[in-house]
Amino acid sequence: MHMHDEPSHHGIDDDRAQSYPNPTMQLLLQRASCRSFEDKPIPDDVMRLVLEAGIHAPTGGNLQPYSIIKSDNKQTAAKLAKLCGEQPWIADAATNLLFCIDWRRLERWAELEIAPFAGMAAFRNFWITFQDVIISAQNICTAADTMGLGSVYIGTVMECFRELVEMFKLPKGVFPVVLLCLGYPKQRPLPRRKLGVDIVVHDETYHEPNDKTIREAYQDKYPNWKLQITEERLEIMRRVCRNVHGDEFADRCIEKVKAQGYFSPVQNYFGLHYQADFMPQGNEEFLAMMEERGFTWFKNYVPKGMEYQS
Ligand SMILES: Cc1cc2nc3c(=O)[nH]c(=O)nc-3n(C[C@H](O)[C@H](O)[C@H](O)COP(=O)(O)O)c2cc1C
Repeated sequence: MHMHDEPSHHGIDDDRAQSYPNPTMQLLLQRASCRSFEDKPIPDDVMRLVLEAGIHAPTGGNLQPYSIIKSDNKQTAAKLAKLCGEQPWIADAATNLLFCIDWRRLERWAELEIAPFAGMAAFRNFWITFQDVIISAQNICTAADTMGLGSVYIGTVMECFRELVEMFKLPKGVFPVVLLCLGYPKQRPLPRRKLGVDIVVHDETYHEPNDKTIREAYQDKYPNWKLQITEERLEIMRRVCRNVHGDEFADRCIEKVKAQGYFSPVQNYFGLHYQADFMPQGNEEFLAMMEERGFTWFKNYVPKGMEYQS
């Protein structure tokens, strides 16, 4: 039995090394996030090609409702690293890309051509746009990989939306979604274990797996993963459990942790790391920030031209 102090689920049993049908499959199956970068800039021609690959991605209606803020500036990187929750690889990355939803460009196009426009008021548009942004970002990741670069997404931009808006002078209609750090890897990052096809893919209709299947699938993903018990961690876990589910649940959880002698991965995920009493906080504040930036897709919409009918 191996006791980890820090979470780790790296390392796959890859016995296929020689038998990938093509280099793209090999790249996709061996990819991993990179969090340590060489102090070496990305040549302009390489970066340009990678960006072109991203911009060539599928996008709903071929609208490309996104903008990418590209920064090679060390001071900006250091500032981003701090803002996004002290993640040092942001500061070390050669280039940081901030992916944003951008309805402003389309709004301006519509204005110029005297076309009707309600882009920021529609959930339908928002839903597709969010996907467009990520699909483009992921194509950039893959393209970067093929060029010998490494990358890691930074999701914690959500903790500093307002600062990002100011830093990058984002106008209304432009909203940050995710940051991507890019650079030459210090060493090839190890691919992480994933849930397998058999658990993720459902034939024809959704099949609810039984308890044993779920347990085993996660055991395979996190073999022997155990986080040491400390007083501090117990305290946090107790607080989170109590806040979310009450005292009785907190007692049950702590009892289970103590009986098994460690925190299991899911207890760590939602009890200690993405704390379940914190994560849902601020929902309305997030919507308020969206509204500040001109997005109103979560509000009831009364079109101007139809006001007289209501
Ligand atoms: C939307 C999104 C947000 C992420 N945010 C962060 C982050 O803030 N910091 C970080 O180090 N990694 C972040 N990651 C990387 C994940 O931790 C990583 O993809 C995951 O652990 C799986 O590892 P792999 O990419 O090596 O397969 C993020 C990934 C995604 C897709």
